[in-house]
Amino acid sequence: MGVLPVEERRVLTAKLDEMRRKALEDPESFWDEHARALEWYKIWDKVLDDGEKPFYRWFVGGRINASYNALDRHVKTWRKNKVALIWEGEDGSVKKYSYRDLYVEVNRVAALLKNFGVKKGDRVALYLPMIPELPIFMLAAARIGAPFTVIFSGFSSDSLAKRLNDSGAKLLVTADGFWRRGRVVRLKDIADKSLEQALSVESVLVVRHAGVDVAMQEGRDYWYHEALEGIGRNTYVEPERLDSNHPLFILYTSGTTGTPKGIYHSTGGYLVWVYWTLKWAFNPNDEDIWWCTADIGWITGHSYVVFGPLLHGLTTLMYEGAPDYPAPDRWWSIIERHGVTVFYTSPTAIRMFMRYGSHWVEKHDLSSLRILGSVGEPINPEAWEWYFKVVGKGRCPIIDTWWQTETGGFMISPAAGIELVPLKPGSATLPLPGVDADVVDDNGNPAKPGVQGYLVIKRPWPGMLLGVWGDPERYVKTYWGRFDGYYFPGDYAMKDEDGYFWILGRADEVLKVAAHRIGTMELESALVEHPAVSEAAVVGKPDPVKGEVPVAFVVLKEGFSPSVKLEEELSNHVAEVIGPIARPAAIIFVKKLPKTRSGKIMRRVLKALVRGEASLGDLSTIEDPSAVDEVKAALRIA
Ligand code: WTA
Repeated sequence: MGVLPVEERRVLTAKLDEMRRKALEDPESFWDEHARALEWYKIWDKVLDDGEKPFYRWFVGGRINASYNALDRHVKTWRKNKVALIWEGEDGSVKKYSYRDLYVEVNRVAALLKNFGVKKGDRVALYLPMIPELPIFMLAAARIGAPFTVIFSGFSSDSLAKRLNDSGAKLLVTADGFWRRGRVVRLKDIADKSLEQALSVESVLVVRHAGVDVAMQEGRDYWYHEALEGIGRNTYVEPERLDSNHPLFILYTSGTTGTPKGIYHSTGGYLVWVYWTLKWAFNPNDEDIWWCTADIGWITGHSYVVFGPLLHGLTTLMYEGAPDYPAPDRWWSIIERHGVTVFYTSPTAIRMFMRYGSHWVEKHDLSSLRILGSVGEPINPEAWEWYFKVVGKGRCPIIDTWWQTETGGFMISPAAGIELVPLKPGSATLPLPGVDADVVDDNGNPAKPGVQGYLVIKRPWPGMLLGVWGDPERYVKTYWGRFDGYYFPGDYAMKDEDGYFWILGRADEVLKVAAHRIGTMELESALVEHPAVSEAAVVGKPDPVKGEVPVAFVVLKEGFSPSVKLEEELSNHVAEVIGPIARPAAIIFVKKLPKTRSGKIMRRVLKALVRGEASLGDLSTIEDPSAVDEVKAALRIA
């Protein structure tokens, strides 16, 4: 296969094996040594405290600051004048920040946060688009020990309000608007709506970006540029010497219930993990122009647009707008113009560009690229091949990284920074050092090679979540309750004869739509909130570009009847309640849903039906078999 053939049962290089062995045999001394790659104010008393399983705590007693490690460290060296951040707006404008520039801005904003009464431990919510102020606020909050929570700018006012209330944020930072496909999305208007329900928020800072008029509430809302006016460029805010397990951020993600969970990460363990995983997987160097295309509103952006690259002193690139605007070669043009060397994106994006055609890629000189990455969902071999040949010209390895919001950083991934193993398209290859991954059957016993089972992580790792904000029980139940003593990420997987891992999709009610994580229950609870809806069931349907898309089955209340208009209304309703990314691909009206005799909706039957699978599985517990016929008729596959 391609230029990087799989040599059958090739013995992994001694170096990689040795690293893995060391990390698993004696994790404490392995991490004791590796954590020192960062600068600590105080070295830990204990590498790993497992006294209160599964509330593992790393580098206990250590003191560290994220902003210091990302900025101050480099400002003391020749990197002071190196470009830290390249930003490109959708309108084509470009801004560059050196490490020194970023340091200056972060110090000013840290002082500003303090002026607004933000203290160590207070939460700051960042509902911002992809503009430089987003990483600046993240680093400033981290500097003073205020955990930040970034809310993806595509989320609705309801979603924002839920996150503001759950995190108890004191300050909200937003923008007037941002550009998407040449149009302004009026972000402040959406924020205003959510503030009616968000009681913890005392003040709102508004970044002027799109230049649109917004309503400013006296005594609550302040323009960022005005608030910053009196804070000079020489301002220095001493970084807080934070406990290693002080929360750096909370990031909400979807699970199997209707309410998103606030995953929160430590400072020390998280930074160590992001630093080493980036190094192992991508082997960065000082000439790299690093571009991870993820929105910072997701974990990929936190770890590999902001913290990872800055810890390494790299130049990281951020692009504000739509990938195919004004033309389908926008991304390729960015790579060419900025000389991007590392390019990290999702299979959905690759499949979209594949559809547009290779000629859009071939218009541009992409010879600067040396390494490619993939994340967010399984990459199908066809997309892998295209990415490898058309984008990478057969020269660049594809680093397929499996990980999650909860893991903080990469877990299973080729390790170009140690020794690149032979790649197999569609496999994330092998666990990184320190990751004790396996595939098990229903009873938690190791699955045989080639047999599908559940992915598990058998021991703690430094980048692991600290917990679910405000809900320790949910943390224990969700992640450690399925298999005793193992962390369960919620994915199906298979290990082949060579020990390579193949991730086979979610084993729970979570969808990956265009690599975005969405809970089917969130969609269902949004639907049943609508006055016309009595019951709803949402399942994922395979999609050639987006991986999968949500399909909703809806039972209407007495007095309502199916219509195209109602379908549209329900679809808009979901987009309003959650955000446009959750809009169902189809709404199918039925009179009844297949249920068990105890009244549980049989989602697996619906899933098999939308997938057109020949077998519907065990139907012995179904209450009314005619429900299946009705769904079939509705899907026109009867
Ligand atoms: C899926 C995104 C296959 C998986 C970083 C996981 C993947 C979920 C891959 C986490 C990959 C992520 N191959 N599947 N390389 N990377 N996934 O929290 O189902 O948004 O559990 O984190 O994405 O999604 P999350």
